[in-house]
Amino acid sequence: MRTQVLIIGGGPAGLLLSQLMHRQGIDTLVLERRSRDYVLARIRAGVLESGMVDLLREAGVGERMDREGIVHEGTYLALSNRGFRIDFKQLTGGSVMVYGQTELTRDLYQARDAMEGQVLHEVGRVQIHDLDTDSPHVTFTKDGRAQRIDCDYVAGCDGFHGVSRKTIDPAVLREFERVYPFGWLGILSQTPPVSEELIYASHERGFALCSMRNQNLSRYYLQVSLQDSIEQWSDDAFWDELKRRIPLAAAESIVTGESIEKSIAPLRSFVAEPMRWGRLFLCGDAAHIVPPTGAKGLNLAASDVYYLSRALQQHYNDNDDHGIETYSATALSRVWKAERFSWSMTRLLHRFPDQSPFDWRMQQVELEYLESSVAAQTSLAENYIGLPY
Ligand code: FAD
Ligand code: PHB
Repeated sequence: MRTQVLIIGGGPAGLLLSQLMHRQGIDTLVLERRSRDYVLARIRAGVLESGMVDLLREAGVGERMDREGIVHEGTYLALSNRGFRIDFKQLTGGSVMVYGQTELTRDLYQARDAMEGQVLHEVGRVQIHDLDTDSPHVTFTKDGRAQRIDCDYVAGCDGFHGVSRKTIDPAVLREFERVYPFGWLGILSQTPPVSEELIYASHERGFALCSMRNQNLSRYYLQVSLQDSIEQWSDDAFWDELKRRIPLAAAESIVTGESIEKSIAPLRSFVAEPMRWGRLFLCGDAAHIVPPTGAKGLNLAASDVYYLSRALQQHYNDNDDHGIETYSATALSRVWKAERFSWSMTRLLHRFPDQSPFDWRMQQVELEYLESSVAAQTSLAENYIGLPY
């Protein structure tokens, strides 16, 4: 078997790249370790930057998103009982779209099926070979049988735990990491959202976030200790703690209900350099992780795909390799800025175990400054809606 671009990983990055390539007449094949049902059951991101929204439309998968997604022109920040709004529209002219990663992934699979795109699920032992030559190939097992696919390029879209990054020569690869001393406990509940816009709440007891998927599906998060387990957090305990951390008006009006999903995610900042090694490109979580506080993870996967899809189009359609040669530097420049923003939002809004009274005052005054300064709000807003591609 042979393809032009072999894509490892059938998450949002891999599927979107495959979809954009096929619309340019470039052949791809996607290898995914899990079943489609498993991939679609993962509850993850919910906020799309407008650059990503445009890219999804360009890929021909924007129709349901445009119908069901909710445009948000601002967000609330809160400190204990006091909240204030950051008006994206007024400050920057921009907005974001609330549309779940699960729905988006479903749309991408449907579009791939409609174009008869090849996605092989439940493949095992994926290995990449001969990346430093002009003819790399990938081996894997499917239904117990060993298989081989030859290709021009490999796109490593296989997430943080994938094989692609690990294939890069250790003498070349550099990794930068910060692991945070807490996690996020998230629940999904079939209840109307407490607020029309998201609420990011800083509180002495820890951070809390009120988000949503649609008018009757809410997503809430609490900062928790990494030692906590899901079993320790009954639904009642979750709601009680959430109400303590968000402003009173929201706590009093929130509609609670049974959770339909509950999980704890650790928080990490991570960047791998370079994002191209020979004929391998890294895209999305395979190359970088951000803590979810800035809602940037999925959006960074999309900007990587944007740069890579342009680079491959130039190569195949115009015989020009400039985009391929500059892919790593171009993608990393945007990645590092989103890393900075996600790290600064995390630092601003969470309680750290080793925090001194001085540090806590600094967080409080930073939020007070943000509340009073149009310049500071503009900076937050332009990063939140997404820096230009
Ligand atoms: P993934 O979605 O991880 O996809 C990688 C795929 O590769 C997976 O399907 C995996 O099964 C497959 N794979 C792995 N190894 C192999 C292998 N060896 N062979 C074949 N296939 C393999 N981001 C935001 O922008 N906004 C948010 O609000 C947000 N909230 C989040 C909340 C939570 C709780 C979590 C966990 C993440 C959140 N993120 C958010 C991050 C976002 O979900 C990720 O950044 C996004 O999924 C990255 O997409 P990806 O395609 O690069 O990687
Ligand atoms: C979500 O809805 O899952 C979500 C929203 C905003 C974030 C993180 C997660 O910053």
